[in-house]
Amino acid sequence: MCGIVAYTGSNEAYPILMKGLHRLEYRGYDSAGVALMQSGSITLYKKRGKVSDLEDYCLTKDTSAHAGIAHTRWATHGEPNEQNAHPHLSEDHSLALIHNGIIENYLSLKKELQNRGYVFQSDTDTEVLVHLIKEVQQKDNIPLDEAVMLALSRVEGTYALAILSVDNPDQLILAKKGSPLLIGVGDNEYFIGSDGAPIVEYTNKVVYLEDGDVAVVSLENPLRIRNIRDEHALLKNPHYQRLEMTLDQIEKGGFETYMLKEIFEQPKSIRDSMRGRINLKKEVVSLGGLIEYEQKMMNAKRFIIAACGTSWHAGLVAEYLIESLVRIPVEVEYASEFRYRDPILYEDDVLIAISQSGETADTLAAVELAKRHGATVIGICNVVGSTLARETMAGSYTHAGPEIGVASTKAFTAQVTVLTLMALSLAQRKGTISKSMYHQLINDLESIPEKIERILAKEQHIQKIAQFVATRPNAIFLGRGINYPVALEGALKLKEISYIHAEGYPAAEMKHGPIALIDEHMPLIVIATEQLTYDKIVSNIQEVIARKGTIISIVTEGDTTVKGMSKFCIEIPRTEELLTPLVASVPLQLLAYHVALIRGCDVDKPRNLAKSVSVE
Ligand code: F6R
Repeated sequence: MCGIVAYTGSNEAYPILMKGLHRLEYRGYDSAGVALMQSGSITLYKKRGKVSDLEDYCLTKDTSAHAGIAHTRWATHGEPNEQNAHPHLSEDHSLALIHNGIIENYLSLKKELQNRGYVFQSDTDTEVLVHLIKEVQQKDNIPLDEAVMLALSRVEGTYALAILSVDNPDQLILAKKGSPLLIGVGDNEYFIGSDGAPIVEYTNKVVYLEDGDVAVVSLENPLRIRNIRDEHALLKNPHYQRLEMTLDQIEKGGFETYMLKEIFEQPKSIRDSMRGRINLKKEVVSLGGLIEYEQKMMNAKRFIIAACGTSWHAGLVAEYLIESLVRIPVEVEYASEFRYRDPILYEDDVLIAISQSGETADTLAAVELAKRHGATVIGICNVVGSTLARETMAGSYTHAGPEIGVASTKAFTAQVTVLTLMALSLAQRKGTISKSMYHQLINDLESIPEKIERILAKEQHIQKIAQFVATRPNAIFLGRGINYPVALEGALKLKEISYIHAEGYPAAEMKHGPIALIDEHMPLIVIATEQLTYDKIVSNIQEVIARKGTIISIVTEGDTTVKGMSKFCIEIPRTEELLTPLVASVPLQLLAYHVALIRGCDVDKPRNLAKSVSVE
């Protein structure tokens, strides 16, 4: 949802800003822009399209500067064009501003400003900020940071802001509420980013801004941070932290795309997510971040899982795991619906929020709501130091490493791994799992990375199946039980990166409507591994074949029945039923990936999407 980069220091700003934008491009890529401080005035370059389009455009331009701000956009207000691209300038061109978030009361502010004679150059919500800040500064004749604080007190919504001003050419003003922003501290130079990716190459000393913070970054004075919620506006001591990220993690490492790299990283990311959480003798599972809240979780009357997209699918898998192993009822909610539903919440409810980025606005709102009702709130997230990690009472990180491809892959399997460990740990303490079942599951869980390696070795076979699927306009994914969420996830992967219309269903639901769609042109991708309902799935497949549908199946190695009914078949290693989502999801990721490649799609940056949905 828009990426922000800024720099001030003695080095050339432009290359640092551009490299930073490339690393944040997963957050949005419909237009990009940069404002550079050149000989006491601001030079602005903006371009519709990707960061590389902006770079091409700037090839013939003067880009020398030692301070600047840059932005890659995911449009919310106003179509993706140059006018609406950030940075936005004040009317006298003395301020340039970039923004990530949404200004909810922008229409009333815009009207007010227009009534006072301001002429807007764009259709964005952001432009009101720059005019409002400039107006307050001029009217009250106060320093820019104070003007920012005053202006923001009138603003409703979310923002991460960076402002460049001709009055203080090497200074940057930053502000945060609801959207992430961090400051990398170098040797008398500062690197600002929406996350650590634009910063990690230069420094690992960072300050994560908190909601309400307004920071003044300058080369003459130490870092100054105040919070608009503090009525005395006292200076805060910056809380310096170590950035938990390495450069290797955010580069492609020889793979053609981030998505493929991340699919192939799954054996490692699953191992990393288990590491240190199962004791040596394999007798105890323990998630360090949850220990304090384990008792509350065991006594919970109900778990509510709130998440969006792929993380919601991981939540659906967790529903099966927790109900089957811990015997506590679970409800899985789309965070976006939950927050506006006036839900009934009790103090003995435990809300588990799942998010790769830890910045998804709806998931964070669900967390706030549950906290207000006195429920215990636990987070499962991947990005260290993200808002979710800070706003929940306790939680557990998935150690998937940075996920840059917009389509979530390794984060999903890492989430399922951590949720499995959580369920096992609670079941063990609550006594709802037999010793033999516990050991069976732990042993199998530890073998998952090696099983995924065997599936990844089948990439060429999956590529051939992709040739077939790529020619179809539609696809249906079917699964039952714990593999129903896998069907949903398979359909989401295919539609979001290949733009083929795809739906996921519980296999038995077909005859209640969707079977009407089946004819000789419809491929059905069916997860038919060994499981309690295997025979039922066989019947569901027969019903489809009777209507001439084409079956592509995911089966357990050695299967002959479903294989015999399928046009294509992918065999995966035998796995405990409760753990099959970890293996069955991988061939579906590879299938979607290759279909998208064959169709010439940009798999890492699918159209209309952004990785981190920090707006509603
Ligand atoms: C799909 C995908 C999205 C995200 C969703 C939630 O591949 O990546 O559906 O899963 O936007 O994002 P997080 O997990 O960051 O809250």
